[in-house]
Amino acid sequence: MSTHIILPRIMQVGAGASQEIPNILTSLGCKRPLIITDKVMVSLGYISTIESSLLEHSIDCHVFDATVPEPTISSITAGVNQVRHGDYDSIIAVGGGSPIDSAKAIAILGKHDGTMRDFKFPRIVNESGLPIIAVPTTAGTGSEVTKFTIITDEANDEKMLCVGMGFMPVAALVDYDLTLSLPPRITADTGIDALTHALEGYVSRKANPYSDSQVLAAMRLIAPNLRAAFHDGTNKQAREAMMLGSTLAGIGFSNASVALVHGMSRPIGAFFHVPHGLSNAMLLPSVTAFSIEAAPKRYADSARAMGIANQTDSDDCANQKLLDELQALNDELQVPTLAEYGIDKEQYFSLLNEMASQAMSSGSPSNNPRIPSKDEIVEIYKKLWK
Ligand SMILES: [Fe+2]
Repeated sequence: MSTHIILPRIMQVGAGASQEIPNILTSLGCKRPLIITDKVMVSLGYISTIESSLLEHSIDCHVFDATVPEPTISSITAGVNQVRHGDYDSIIAVGGGSPIDSAKAIAILGKHDGTMRDFKFPRIVNESGLPIIAVPTTAGTGSEVTKFTIITDEANDEKMLCVGMGFMPVAALVDYDLTLSLPPRITADTGIDALTHALEGYVSRKANPYSDSQVLAAMRLIAPNLRAAFHDGTNKQAREAMMLGSTLAGIGFSNASVALVHGMSRPIGAFFHVPHGLSNAMLLPSVTAFSIEAAPKRYADSARAMGIANQTDSDDCANQKLLDELQALNDELQVPTLAEYGIDKEQYFSLLNEMASQAMSSGSPSNNPRIPSKDEIVEIYKKLWK
């Protein structure tokens, strides 16, 4: 049996990789890029640096900086109109997962008729949009190397999963220098997201030898370095490992899929505006506890790759260490409970059924080693309230 693997055409990896934007554009034959980003990236000076280096290469560019965290249909509309009425031949997406996810949606909608709802899963979007050069500034969502984007439909608070080759960037510039100034909270949330990609990619029912090789390497890089990057953001060795680990985890899950943590995380994010990585972190220990019985060897392998279990530990022992570590990691990274985050208990319990329905319809729970019923998803949501 063979596996279909989709990757960016070009990757530039390491310190200073983002300075190669002009050369990458030239190698792709592109001359009129639109930079898609957010106002934080502008205020940090990242965008003016890119604009200057493009000008030095006689490349004129425009900037769309109105992307928002957890992008919605309305938040990308102005960007779609800018592409439809502009004469752009490429997009440079700069930022965390949200600007890159926004750019992916704009790249497709700017070139094709329809609304984002027309492009959501289970439709597979293999049409080409504008080519995207993705420059991540977090480690991370892995969005720079995935064929996915997530856009919220504010009409029903659904986080729409959109899938296909059309959303894969043509180039990914993976530059850990851009993560050195990330604050601890974002470092923790995005880092746990990356760790979740690696773990879910490994236990996924769609795992394959190629994705296994990527996500195991990702776990070896992320697990020993996440705490160090959280406590000291200037630790270059930890930042480099996190950035590479995040990209490898992205490659892995894009070619294997995520599972129940992500399926249940998106509705929490959509209804209560919890950042994606944080809602993953809240769910990771309990969903792992629910799932281990269906793939004990895979979870034990993960604990060994993360360096928290020994090669000589039994699978049961390794899995207990994994559960202990996931909770200890949340404690050390100060992941709040739902209540501590400020979510209203009554509202949360009134939405359990709807959240479970949205989780099921995303398709991700069916990739989980233990496939839950809707009632079991409701139970996990209930127990999450502490
Ligand atoms: Fe994620």
